Amino acid sequence: MSVYQATASAPVNIACIKYWGKRDTKLILPTNSSLSVTLDQDHLRSTTTSRADPSFEKDRLWLNGQEEEIKEGGRLATCIKEVKRLRREVEEKNPNEPKLSTYAVHIASKNNFPTAAGLASSASGFAALVSSLAALYALPASPSQLSLIARQGSGSACRSLFGGYVAWEMGSSPDGSDSLAIEVAPQSHWPDIHALICVVSDDKKGTSSTSGMQRTVETSTLLQHRIKHVVPERMKAIKEAILVRDFDSFARITMQDSNQFHAVALDTDPPIFYMNDVSRSIIALIVEYNRVSIENGGKIKAAYTYDAGPNAVIYAPKENLKEIISLIVKYFPQAEPFKDPFGLFGAQGVGSGAVV
Ligand code: ADP
Ligand code: DP6
Ligand code: CO
Repeated sequence: MSVYQATASAPVNIACIKYWGKRDTKLILPTNSSLSVTLDQDHLRSTTTSRADPSFEKDRLWLNGQEEEIKEGGRLATCIKEVKRLRREVEEKNPNEPKLSTYAVHIASKNNFPTAAGLASSASGFAALVSSLAALYALPASPSQLSLIARQGSGSACRSLFGGYVAWEMGSSPDGSDSLAIEVAPQSHWPDIHALICVVSDDKKGTSSTSGMQRTVETSTLLQHRIKHVVPERMKAIKEAILVRDFDSFARITMQDSNQFHAVALDTDPPIFYMNDVSRSIIALIVEYNRVSIENGGKIKAAYTYDAGPNAVIYAPKENLKEIISLIVKYFPQAEPFKDPFGLFGAQGVGSGAVV
């Protein structure tokens, strides 16, 4: 008897231009395009195994050992349904293929880092889910095609189908067929950029990304300014910075966009605070570090960015990492460099890390 099973991993991605707001909540179509860097496979990642078997009665999923309900019409159900639809096309073209699309699937996934803590677990989670089902069904689909499905699990997940520098183009089609991820540049184009993750708190966040951004769309006037007058220019400028490996521009845009995203969260009614005092102190430290460098005729040396949580991600050229880690350890004495899974992760992979 054949066993139909496949395992896939996907890393997290951390946005430099933030996705925050949906124009269609069911299809997960965003109010603006976004751009991120996918971290190295070796570090923060989700690993998912899918199995299809005629004896299974219904689709089921376990996340970190706990069974999660697959709600009808919900995000998990939509992703599974969409991947099965592509499998059916394969079976219709090749009648000799086993009819896996008619079997239920059992899916088990594990994150090697805190879930729902603002470290993009929904991104790696849904990317790994779609990748493992695509492998199970031997789908002839490109990463961009799979990104259309992962997007319907969690918006940010569409970008984790690619490594390196990735854009999610918002698209304009009402059916979402052009709202997908594309590669801006592979990681090998600019391997010098590393990401340092400072885990300020691994608690589950108070306001999920989904409900937070919905409230922002409903109440923030600043969001309207951002999506019309700010993000389109920033997308162009940061792509250009990546293509010419201009860290100064990349860093300025990344920090500005993180700041505006948190301003938009604050402009929401009731306001949302994702950063805490430690997050703000890390911003102050990086601002000061860059100021001293510029004053001495140098350049920007590091860029901070924060997602929907208090944890800092610092992008920097490799040569500055040691200095940055020693600064963080100096000013946050409770920070201790330590090994995976929390701590310092590079787009390239760096040995150890710092937890604040
Ligand atoms: P985060 O900041 O970690 O992305 P979100 O609030 O956006 O937090 O999403 C967290 C949710 O994503 C989880 O509650 C779970 O439903 C889903 N999720 C996280 N990891 C996985 C995974 N490995 N497989 C499937 N779903 C996942
Ligand atoms: C701040 O992708 O988690 O990390 O689409 O509702 O699942 P849903 O939201 P999610 O939002 C991510 C928001 C962000 C910015 C980003 O990753 O671009
Ligand atoms: Co998320």
